[in-house]
Amino acid sequence: MSKRRRSWAEPYKIKVVEPLRMTTRRYRERAIEQAHYNTFLLRSEDVYIDLLTDSGTAAMSDYQWAGMMQGDEAYAGSKNFYHLADMVRKYYGYPYIVPTHQGRGAEHILAKMLIRPGDFIPGNMYFTTTRAHQELAGGTFRDVIVDQAHDPTSLHPFKGNVDIHKLERLIDEVGADNIPYINMQASVNMAGGQPFSLANLRQVRQVCTEHGIKIFLDATRAMENAWFIKMVEPGQQERSCAQILADMCALTDGCTMSGKKDLLVNVGGFLALRDERLYRKACELVVLYEGLHTYGGMAGRDMEAMARGIEEAIQDDHLAARIGQVQYLGHKLLAEKVPIVQPIGGHAVYLDAARFLPHIRQHEFPAQALTAALYLESGVRAMERGIVSAGRDPVSGEHRYPKLELVRLTIPRRVYTQAHMDVVAESVIACYEQRTNIGGLEMTYEPETLRFFQAEFKPLAAWATTLRQEESRTVGYRRDASGFKI
Ligand code: F0G
Repeated sequence: MSKRRRSWAEPYKIKVVEPLRMTTRRYRERAIEQAHYNTFLLRSEDVYIDLLTDSGTAAMSDYQWAGMMQGDEAYAGSKNFYHLADMVRKYYGYPYIVPTHQGRGAEHILAKMLIRPGDFIPGNMYFTTTRAHQELAGGTFRDVIVDQAHDPTSLHPFKGNVDIHKLERLIDEVGADNIPYINMQASVNMAGGQPFSLANLRQVRQVCTEHGIKIFLDATRAMENAWFIKMVEPGQQERSCAQILADMCALTDGCTMSGKKDLLVNVGGFLALRDERLYRKACELVVLYEGLHTYGGMAGRDMEAMARGIEEAIQDDHLAARIGQVQYLGHKLLAEKVPIVQPIGGHAVYLDAARFLPHIRQHEFPAQALTAALYLESGVRAMERGIVSAGRDPVSGEHRYPKLELVRLTIPRRVYTQAHMDVVAESVIACYEQRTNIGGLEMTYEPETLRFFQAEFKPLAAWATTLRQEESRTVGYRRDASGFKI
């Protein structure tokens, strides 16, 4: 047998395509200005390769689309709900499920049920919507992730792990009675898509059981976390991701879920629980905020697509291709010495804006500026994950200064090809080569909560027009006289 390395390929072929639109440099200058240098405010039509998020952006399979036609749109007791509940039981192992319109709907209900004003909620790094709901319920988030997670150069294989000493110190400090649960996020988003290990989760379980604290898994990307466990954690290599996922869930009291990520659907989420009493309470709340407990804001067809998505998403070959594509992009950037968060995570490659643009001070929003520069260069849309996302401290009102100042290149599932990844890598490298021309930003409008979605900016100096003026590689298709369409 030949020892030559063999390539892997996606375990699917393409049945439907959606044309992409390329734009001119001049068009993009206008578009980013109109979007106030916030990529959330761009029109998606003006984007060439959209790496804003992996949320709700997946391509569904023919099996899922066929399921959409079997949507049972009854107000109560839709057959699709029961199918979804069966799939959650089979793969996640939780007996009770309450559907929600998306992940934050589940976070809202969980926080409302369990958090009393003055409580503390430890977590392995914050996530924006998760923390916002904890704070809205009167709680205070406490970060108990390992220190390495805040260091983009640390090669720790499980940067999503909880630092058990930090957790114990918090329990000593505030008392277990004031800690309703710990939020255990899989594939920690703000750390760069970093997994926790099963061994670590077992330790957390031990401490929490001792003190009567619940564990809620943020299972949004738990399948991707399971893949890393399979790859890296001793003794797990021969096991399937499905077995590992079941182990992860078995150690927890329930989960919040944004189905828009792992589960290959465009909308939907759920809250899953073990405790029947909590389930009954959740059923009361879901009716108030989302919809009846057998649809929770989702159409029957969307529940069916999610039920089917669960089965597809947990397959080892799917996860290998999905994470393989992210790794492919990351390695291309590393080969050109572009500073990125390492190890490369599961759903995205994170540019380390602090090292990419060391000349821009954090309060001048380097990561935000880099997302704008990347869009200007090539029409690739990325997302800021730094000081803008971190928001302000509710007590002092000051900016929170996170150690990580990142730009996320988030890869939608089953959407782009390897050639698209090549174009993205070339675009980032082009920005890196002209990085000294990129300047800082000033915030001109700031919403009070989750400001990153709608904040507006302007360049501190005229740097945006001093970036390379020539038309970029993605240019060339013009349709109308204004030159702004294909
Ligand atoms: N938890 C995590 C870890 C997430 O990444 C998200 C969403 C949520 C909860 C909330 O779920 O969007 O369905 O309400 N993350 C998206 C992102 C927005 O782009 O990372 P949702």
